[in-house]
Amino acid sequence: MVVLKSKAELEIMRQAARIISSIAKGLCTHVKSGVTTKKLDELANELILQENVEPAFKGYQGYPATICTSINEVIVHGIPENRSLRDGDILSLDLGIKYKEFYSDIALTVCVGEVKPKIKKLVDVTKKALFEGIRYAKVNNHVSDISSSIQNYVEKNGFSIVRNFVGHGIGRNLHEEPEVPNFGKPKHGLILKSGMVLAIEPMVNMGSWECVILEDGWTAVSKDRLPSAHFEHTIAITDEGPEILTSFN
Ligand code: MF3
Ligand code: CO
Repeated sequence: MVVLKSKAELEIMRQAARIISSIAKGLCTHVKSGVTTKKLDELANELILQENVEPAFKGYQGYPATICTSINEVIVHGIPENRSLRDGDILSLDLGIKYKEFYSDIALTVCVGEVKPKIKKLVDVTKKALFEGIRYAKVNNHVSDISSSIQNYVEKNGFSIVRNFVGHGIGRNLHEEPEVPNFGKPKHGLILKSGMVLAIEPMVNMGSWECVILEDGWTAVSKDRLPSAHFEHTIAITDEGPEILTSFN
């Protein structure tokens, strides 16, 4: 687990997060009907090289690409391919970088053209669930206060929260302790302290929360093949409250 010991370390994590946010923003401008996810992966690679940072996912446990591109029923870890985006699709982009020994991780779901209202609602609820969870990322709260607030928000809105994947501590490694589940009862697990940095990342299914992994060993899809959305921010716990290091704007 990383607990940042100095303002200087926090400042590096802020910079890493700023870089990844601007790369994500750049990528989003290319998300439109006709573009392949492979093309988006190439673009992400170029943007990462321009910034002189390292991709965090490529080669991670054998992951074959720079970013994850998860379309519609794909929950997470979709591998970029020659499939073109079509109007009505939703695309979850997930990317991570390493900058001066510190990692940053971000994910967001983008609508391609016009999507059905219920799918739009799924995307909105997932994004709001992330911010709901972040509200509880405060000194002396438990990790599971984040988890339970996310689950409650999602279920109150008629969707289901994925159990198979969780958020995580982040810092000198992409994945560090503690795990940050998106479900569970409040007041359990680790107590949050100033200087901890977390990647909070709810994955929300329109239908059942159950998930299957395809033969490639990575692509996680909803068992009922209904759409799924994913948002992730890297945040720091500070004495002044949660600081969202990454940003979507
Ligand atoms: N944000 C995801 C996670 O933290 C993406 C990891 S992709 C991988 O698990 F390739 F690095 F595994
Ligand atoms: Co992550």
